[in-house]
Amino acid sequence: MEIIRLENVTKSYRLGRQKVKALKQVTLSVEDGVFLAIAGPSGSGKTTLLNLIGCIDDATTGKIFIDGVDVGDKTANELADLRARTIGFVFQTFNLLPVLSAEENVEYPLLQQKQLTKAERKERVRHYLEVVGILKYAAHRPNQLSGGQRQRVAIARALAIHPRIILADEPTANLDHKTGYVMVRLMK
Ligand SMILES: Nc1ncnc2c1ncn2[C@@H]1O[C@H](COP(=O)(O)OP(=O)(O)OP(=O)(O)O)[C@@H](O)[C@H]1O
Ligand SMILES: [Mg+2]
Repeated sequence: MEIIRLENVTKSYRLGRQKVKALKQVTLSVEDGVFLAIAGPSGSGKTTLLNLIGCIDDATTGKIFIDGVDVGDKTANELADLRARTIGFVFQTFNLLPVLSAEENVEYPLLQQKQLTKAERKERVRHYLEVVGILKYAAHRPNQLSGGQRQRVAIARALAIHPRIILADEPTANLDHKTGYVMVRLMK
Protein backbone atom coordinates (compact mmCIF):
# COMPACT_ATOMS: atom_id res chain seq x y z
CA MET A 1 0.00 0.00 0.00
CA GLU A 2 1.14 3.51 -0.83
CA ILE A 3 1.87 5.56 2.29
CA ILE A 4 3.41 8.66 0.68
CA ARG A 5 2.57 10.14 -2.71
CA LEU A 6 3.76 13.41 -4.24
CA GLU A 7 2.42 14.67 -7.56
CA ASN A 8 4.30 17.44 -9.37
CA VAL A 9 5.27 19.16 -6.15
CA THR A 10 7.02 22.50 -6.36
CA LYS A 11 8.24 24.65 -3.49
CA SER A 12 9.44 28.21 -3.88
CA TYR A 13 10.66 30.48 -1.12
CA ARG A 14 10.57 34.22 -1.45
CA LEU A 15 13.10 36.25 0.51
CA GLY A 16 12.61 39.93 -0.26
CA ARG A 17 12.97 40.20 -4.02
CA GLN A 18 14.74 36.92 -4.42
CA LYS A 19 12.83 33.75 -5.24
CA VAL A 20 14.41 30.35 -4.61
CA LYS A 21 12.96 27.29 -6.28
CA ALA A 22 13.82 24.64 -3.71
CA LEU A 23 11.79 21.83 -5.36
CA LYS A 24 10.83 21.57 -9.00
CA GLN A 25 8.08 19.17 -10.05
CA VAL A 26 8.78 16.30 -7.67
CA THR A 27 6.73 13.15 -8.19
CA LEU A 28 7.33 10.34 -5.73
CA SER A 29 5.56 7.26 -4.45
CA VAL A 30 6.61 5.32 -1.33
CA GLU A 31 5.07 2.02 -0.32
CA ASP A 32 4.44 0.98 3.27
CA GLY A 33 7.47 -0.62 4.93
CA VAL A 34 10.04 0.74 2.49
CA PHE A 35 13.36 2.15 3.68
CA LEU A 36 14.37 5.00 1.40
CA ALA A 37 17.36 7.35 1.47
CA ILE A 38 17.49 10.64 -0.41
CA ALA A 39 20.94 11.99 -1.25
CA GLY A 40 21.97 15.30 -2.76
CA PRO A 41 24.29 18.25 -2.25
CA SER A 42 23.76 20.90 0.41
CA GLY A 43 20.94 23.23 -0.61
CA SER A 44 19.40 20.74 -3.06
CA GLY A 45 16.08 20.61 -1.19
CA LYS A 46 16.24 17.48 0.99
CA THR A 47 15.02 19.21 4.17
CA THR A 48 12.39 21.10 2.18
CA LEU A 49 11.07 17.79 0.80
CA LEU A 50 10.92 16.19 4.26
CA ASN A 51 9.17 19.26 5.70
CA LEU A 52 6.47 18.96 3.04
CA ILE A 53 6.01 15.21 3.57
CA GLY A 54 5.94 15.86 7.33
CA CYS A 55 3.18 18.48 6.89
CA ILE A 56 5.33 21.12 8.55
CA ASP A 57 5.26 23.30 5.45
CA ASP A 58 2.98 23.39 2.42
CA ALA A 59 3.76 22.96 -1.26
CA THR A 60 3.63 25.95 -3.61
CA THR A 61 2.02 23.76 -6.29
CA GLY A 62 1.22 20.05 -6.60
CA LYS A 63 -0.41 17.50 -4.35
CA ILE A 64 0.78 15.49 -1.35
CA PHE A 65 -1.02 12.41 -0.04
CA ILE A 66 -0.14 10.84 3.30
CA ASP A 67 -1.76 7.45 3.86
CA GLY A 68 -4.19 8.26 1.05
CA VAL A 69 -5.20 11.64 2.52
CA ASP A 70 -4.71 14.82 0.46
CA VAL A 71 -2.98 17.07 3.00
CA GLY A 72 -3.80 20.18 0.95
CA ASP A 73 -7.45 19.84 2.03
CA LYS A 74 -6.70 19.75 5.75
CA THR A 75 -6.84 22.48 8.37
CA ALA A 76 -3.84 23.22 10.60
CA ASN A 77 -5.48 21.32 13.47
CA GLU A 78 -6.22 18.29 11.31
CA LEU A 79 -2.62 18.29 10.10
CA ALA A 80 -1.30 18.47 13.67
CA ASP A 81 -3.45 15.46 14.48
CA LEU A 82 -2.28 13.53 11.40
CA ARG A 83 1.34 14.29 12.29
CA ALA A 84 0.93 13.22 15.91
CA ARG A 85 -0.51 9.85 14.91
CA THR A 86 1.37 9.06 11.72
CA ILE A 87 4.74 10.78 11.50
CA GLY A 88 7.88 10.61 13.62
CA PHE A 89 10.25 13.40 12.59
CA VAL A 90 13.96 13.50 13.40
CA PHE A 91 14.94 17.05 12.57
CA GLN A 92 18.32 18.06 11.18
CA THR A 93 18.59 20.54 14.07
CA PHE A 94 16.91 18.15 16.58
CA ASN A 95 14.26 20.68 17.78
CA LEU A 96 14.35 19.38 21.34
CA LEU A 97 12.59 21.56 23.90
CA PRO A 98 15.39 23.18 25.91
CA VAL A 99 13.53 23.38 29.23
CA LEU A 100 12.61 19.68 29.23
CA SER A 101 14.86 16.77 30.17
CA ALA A 102 15.71 14.04 27.66
CA GLU A 103 13.00 11.88 29.23
CA GLU A 104 10.39 14.66 29.10
CA ASN A 105 11.26 15.44 25.48
CA VAL A 106 10.53 11.84 24.49
CA GLU A 107 7.38 11.79 26.62
CA TYR A 108 5.94 15.04 25.30
CA PRO A 109 4.41 13.84 21.98
CA LEU A 110 3.12 10.72 23.75
CA LEU A 111 0.87 12.89 25.93
CA GLN A 112 -1.40 13.11 22.88
CA GLN A 113 -1.87 9.34 22.81
CA LYS A 114 -4.74 9.21 25.27
CA GLN A 115 -5.06 5.42 25.07
CA LEU A 116 -1.76 5.03 26.96
CA THR A 117 -1.86 4.98 30.74
CA LYS A 118 0.75 7.01 32.60
CA ALA A 119 2.63 3.83 33.53
CA GLU A 120 2.62 2.60 29.91
CA ARG A 121 3.83 5.98 28.72
CA LYS A 122 6.70 6.09 31.23
CA GLU A 123 7.66 2.53 30.30
CA ARG A 124 7.62 3.38 26.58
CA VAL A 125 9.85 6.43 27.17
CA ARG A 126 12.37 4.47 29.20
CA HIS A 127 12.42 1.67 26.64
CA TYR A 128 13.31 4.03 23.79
CA LEU A 129 15.85 5.95 25.85
CA GLU A 130 17.45 2.62 26.53
CA VAL A 131 17.51 1.43 22.92
CA VAL A 132 19.26 4.61 21.82
CA GLY A 133 21.67 4.31 24.75
CA ILE A 134 20.62 7.48 26.60
CA LEU A 135 18.82 6.11 29.66
CA LYS A 136 21.69 7.17 31.89
CA TYR A 137 21.12 10.78 30.76
CA ALA A 138 17.33 10.73 31.10
CA ALA A 139 17.34 13.69 33.51
CA HIS A 140 19.70 15.85 31.43
CA ARG A 141 18.42 18.84 29.53
CA PRO A 142 19.52 19.21 25.86
CA ASN A 143 22.26 21.75 26.72
CA GLN A 144 23.73 19.16 29.11
CA LEU A 145 24.09 16.60 26.30
CA SER A 146 26.56 16.22 23.42
CA GLY A 147 25.38 16.71 19.83
CA GLY A 148 25.23 12.97 19.20
CA GLN A 149 23.32 12.39 22.44
CA ARG A 150 20.78 15.06 21.46
CA GLN A 151 20.43 13.41 18.10
CA ARG A 152 19.67 10.11 19.81
CA VAL A 153 17.04 11.74 22.05
CA ALA A 154 15.42 13.08 18.87
CA ILE A 155 15.46 9.56 17.38
CA ALA A 156 13.92 8.09 20.56
CA ARG A 157 11.20 10.75 20.47
CA ALA A 158 10.33 9.90 16.87
CA LEU A 159 10.31 6.12 17.43
CA ALA A 160 8.35 6.24 20.70
CA ILE A 161 5.10 7.32 19.10
CA HIS A 162 5.18 4.16 16.92
CA PRO A 163 4.60 6.18 13.77
CA ARG A 164 3.63 4.76 10.37
CA ILE A 165 6.30 7.00 8.81
CA ILE A 166 9.68 8.04 10.17
CA LEU A 167 11.23 11.05 8.48
CA ALA A 168 14.84 11.45 9.48
CA ASP A 169 16.86 14.41 8.24
CA GLU A 170 20.56 13.47 8.30
CA PRO A 171 19.95 11.47 11.48
CA THR A 172 23.53 10.21 11.74
CA ALA A 173 25.31 13.50 11.03
CA ASN A 174 26.45 13.86 14.66
CA LEU A 175 27.15 10.21 15.36
CA ASP A 176 30.21 8.02 15.02
CA HIS A 177 30.04 5.29 12.38
CA LYS A 178 29.09 2.47 14.73
CA THR A 179 26.38 4.39 16.64
CA GLY A 180 25.04 5.71 13.33
CA TYR A 181 24.76 2.18 11.99
CA VAL A 182 22.84 1.05 15.10
CA MET A 183 20.45 4.02 14.82
CA VAL A 184 19.69 3.37 11.15
CA ARG A 185 19.00 -0.29 11.94
CA LEU A 186 16.60 0.79 14.70
CA MET A 187 14.70 2.99 12.28
CA LYS A 188 14.50 0.18 9.75
N1 LIG B 1 12.67 29.06 5.01
C1 LIG B 1 13.37 29.32 3.91
N2 LIG B 1 13.32 30.53 3.33
C2 LIG B 1 14.00 30.79 2.20
N3 LIG B 1 14.76 29.90 1.54
C3 LIG B 1 14.86 28.68 2.07
C4 LIG B 1 14.17 28.31 3.27
N4 LIG B 1 14.44 27.00 3.56
C5 LIG B 1 15.24 26.58 2.58
N5 LIG B 1 15.51 27.58 1.68
C6 LIG B 1 16.31 27.46 0.46
O1 LIG B 1 15.86 26.31 -0.27
C7 LIG B 1 16.97 25.58 -0.80
C8 LIG B 1 16.92 24.13 -0.30
O2 LIG B 1 17.20 24.12 1.11
P1 LIG B 1 17.16 22.77 1.98
O3 LIG B 1 17.32 23.20 3.40
O4 LIG B 1 15.94 22.04 1.61
O5 LIG B 1 18.44 22.01 1.42
P2 LIG B 1 19.12 20.65 1.94
O6 LIG B 1 19.24 19.75 0.75
O7 LIG B 1 18.39 20.12 3.11
O8 LIG B 1 20.58 21.15 2.37
P3 LIG B 1 21.59 20.60 3.54
O9 LIG B 1 22.21 19.34 3.00
O10 LIG B 1 22.58 21.71 3.67
O11 LIG B 1 20.77 20.38 4.79
C9 LIG B 1 18.22 26.35 -0.40
O12 LIG B 1 18.61 27.16 -1.50
C10 LIG B 1 17.77 27.21 0.76
O13 LIG B 1 18.48 28.42 0.80
MG1 LIG C 1 18.90 19.81 5.08
